[in-house]
Amino acid sequence: MSTRAVVLAVGHYAPQRVLTNADLEKMVDTSDEWIVQRTGMRERRVCSDGETTSTIATEAAREALERSGLRPQDIDLVVCGTVTGDMWFPSTAAHVQRNLGLENAGAMDVGAACAGFIYSLSVGSAMIEAGHAKRVLVIGADSLTKFTDYTDRSTCILFGDGGGALVLEGQQNTDRGVIRTVLFCDGSGIPHIDVEVGGSKYPAGSPQAEGRRTKIYMNGNEVYRFAVKAMGDACVRCLEQAGMTADDGGLFVPHQANIRIIESAAKRLGLPPEKVFVNIERYGNTSGGSIPLGLYEAEQTGRLKRGMVVMTVGFGAGLVWGANLIRW
Ligand code: UT7
Repeated sequence: MSTRAVVLAVGHYAPQRVLTNADLEKMVDTSDEWIVQRTGMRERRVCSDGETTSTIATEAAREALERSGLRPQDIDLVVCGTVTGDMWFPSTAAHVQRNLGLENAGAMDVGAACAGFIYSLSVGSAMIEAGHAKRVLVIGADSLTKFTDYTDRSTCILFGDGGGALVLEGQQNTDRGVIRTVLFCDGSGIPHIDVEVGGSKYPAGSPQAEGRRTKIYMNGNEVYRFAVKAMGDACVRCLEQAGMTADDGGLFVPHQANIRIIESAAKRLGLPPEKVFVNIERYGNTSGGSIPLGLYEAEQTGRLKRGMVVMTVGFGAGLVWGANLIRW
């Protein structure tokens, strides 16, 4: 009998501080109307000075663990999807391990930008299915606002901070759990989104870093075109591999990058609005945080119920993309 990675509980965290479109109007040449029409965003959460990605990841994981009824020593792996860790190393997952006293857990980060949660869930569930772990904390958390250029109107309106976490447990004789995941990458898209300084090519403070970007650069139009196709493609492939159709899905929880991207993916899959979860108006794009934050809110509001099939899909810098099918 095969082992399935079943979701025991979900948690979330979003900083208290709110950045509205009206606030952005005072910072750059933009308008509430333009932002709402082009992106669907109205406000986002922003870390206070003392908050970091490990704060988000820890609080989301703490809530998920509490709701799961497990003890800290029951977790044997932490996988955190993030590209905005507190430091280059140690990992954000190591911070979570320490902060929650997960004394029996290994810990690692997965770097897949806005698809970080999709990739992390794939890794965490595969470790369970292969028998290498029994209970895994899978986290998606980012604080992109720390790397946002608030003089660049084409990017600064988009990003917010936040995250979420799932506790997975290996179970047999169940049809619940992660059904299928698909992961993709097209590295020819590397130039379309990046933060140049801070890595080994342009180390911070080095002569090579002179004149290089320390904040997020994005070619929005290129990413938009790619995303519209990638979201739909990933879902279709994931459904095909699972032997399912979009009609089998109860809820679609996509990465919240742009309402128009979400709507075009939903249209391609033939999904009615009631099957599409959207909270972009309140959080903006929280990168690896957006999907688990969506899963949390979907469950809290009664839209995601036990036994329902949920499809998640995301894309980001790399370019990387992928999808997960889960029976909740
Ligand atoms: O999570 C993965 C990462 N990123 C994404 O998924 C982002 C994907 N891309 C997008 O969501 C969209 O491309 C944006 C929202 C970034 C931009 O929307 P767009 O409809 O593609 O606008 P555009 O870049 O084609 O710009 C249209 C116009 C330009 O003015 P001109 O040249 O037509 O005069 C821009 O300068 O809108 C202007 N513009 C703005 N105007 C007011 C760009 N940003 C703003 C702004 N406020 N904030």
